[in-house]
Amino acid sequence: MGFITDLTRSWLTRSAKPFTFRSEYDSVLDYSDCESLGLYVHIPFCKSICSFCPYCKSIYNAQKMDSYIDALLEEIRMVGESRNEKTRCTSLYFGGGTPALAADRIGEIITELQKYFEITDGIGLELHPDNVTLPVLEKLKAAGVTRISIGIQSFCEKYQSILGRKSVDIAAMKQALSQVHFDTVSMDFIFALPEQTYDDLRSDIEQAFDAGANHVAIYPFIDFTFTESKVKAMSKKEKHRLLDDITAYCDSMGYTRSSIWTFSCEPEARYSSMTRENFLGFGCSATTLLRKQFKINTFSVEEYCRRIGEKKLPTSLTLRFSQRQRMVYWLFWTAYSTRVDSADFERFFGVPLKRMYGMELKLAKLLGYITEQDGVYTMTPKGAFYYHYYENFYTLSYIDRMWGIMRQQAFPEKLEL
Ligand SMILES: C[S@@+](CC[C@H](N)C(=O)[O-])C[C@H]1O[C@@H](n2cnc3c(N)ncnc32)[C@H](O)[C@@H]1O
Ligand code: SF4
Repeated sequence: MGFITDLTRSWLTRSAKPFTFRSEYDSVLDYSDCESLGLYVHIPFCKSICSFCPYCKSIYNAQKMDSYIDALLEEIRMVGESRNEKTRCTSLYFGGGTPALAADRIGEIITELQKYFEITDGIGLELHPDNVTLPVLEKLKAAGVTRISIGIQSFCEKYQSILGRKSVDIAAMKQALSQVHFDTVSMDFIFALPEQTYDDLRSDIEQAFDAGANHVAIYPFIDFTFTESKVKAMSKKEKHRLLDDITAYCDSMGYTRSSIWTFSCEPEARYSSMTRENFLGFGCSATTLLRKQFKINTFSVEEYCRRIGEKKLPTSLTLRFSQRQRMVYWLFWTAYSTRVDSADFERFFGVPLKRMYGMELKLAKLLGYITEQDGVYTMTPKGAFYYHYYENFYTLSYIDRMWGIMRQQAFPEKLEL
């Protein structure tokens, strides 16, 4: 697996140099030159822990949550105060863990962020189905949240039990959702679980839209090496067929594909914290992507609070990009939306996309992975499958390794990927 990603990285960056993350960091982050900047806030607490889940989280405790949020507000101040004027941002996403458990203090976090950032494109937040109650939804709405995403995983008892999750009370959820309006109500599903069929998945999507969602995210199950999950991922062939069938079904129903994994029944419904050119991340494990660097905060809640208490940024590792490395990063995450506009690339890097990657684009067209119209490259269903397939390698070679280490060591010395 590592061989494939190493080869692709060397080819696309035109260098044998790996991505090298070091323990160094900048105490002042320069994001003044970042257009279309997104914000991300991580809340690392859950009421119970799911064995398959790779994210940075620990068991919820009211006191721990409170100290964590106090530290989070301080991190926002430390980063925000480095500029004299308000910075324009696109969106803000709260992820986790289960950020809805902090519903009482979400308004406070948003207000702190709004002192330094002007958020133009809405605020998203993740909920566990247990959090979908009238009081929680009302608090989130009053705080300014405009998009929500609910982790369903599956409505089928069989898969809930394979994943060790309890069944969802669809009627109660539907009732609560019908009373509080959000621009986007997204529901997360996991596909490619053992023996999962097209009918199971189609029924999940239909039940989601019926229960009040206008957007669904269907993530392929990833078997992270450091989790205790015993669930085995489906074979490539079966997964390919399932993804093709479900994509064709969504097309036939007129649902819009807004990224590799997401479909909406209302075209304007969007939920994506991934496809942004630059972003600032706050909280444990949060990543920050700027023009010249990528940095990742410590995964340890205790070390996070301690570093903030010392008035230091909680950065654990920093990668300083070469220009080609930054281009690969940009292309990989922009392609997630299934569409790459060469004008955006040229605006960001000051060089034409064709000059940097003309040969690769030609090859991708020849293989039937992309089509081109007026400099806009759109992924075909075949291209989307292979992107997904490659992303799986990337996740297992890079993310799995990095997160595996970051869970063990709060501040590793160096990491080469
Ligand atoms: C932070 S959770 C969502 C909010 C809430 N904590 C919950 O679980 O309901 C983010 C989503 O990641 C997805 N996810 C977690 N582990 C995964 C895995 N091993 N493979 C694929 N998707 C996964 C699930 O769909 C989950 O809903
Ligand atoms: S899937 Fe959601 S609830 Fe389960 S451990 Fe992960 S973040 Fe927590």
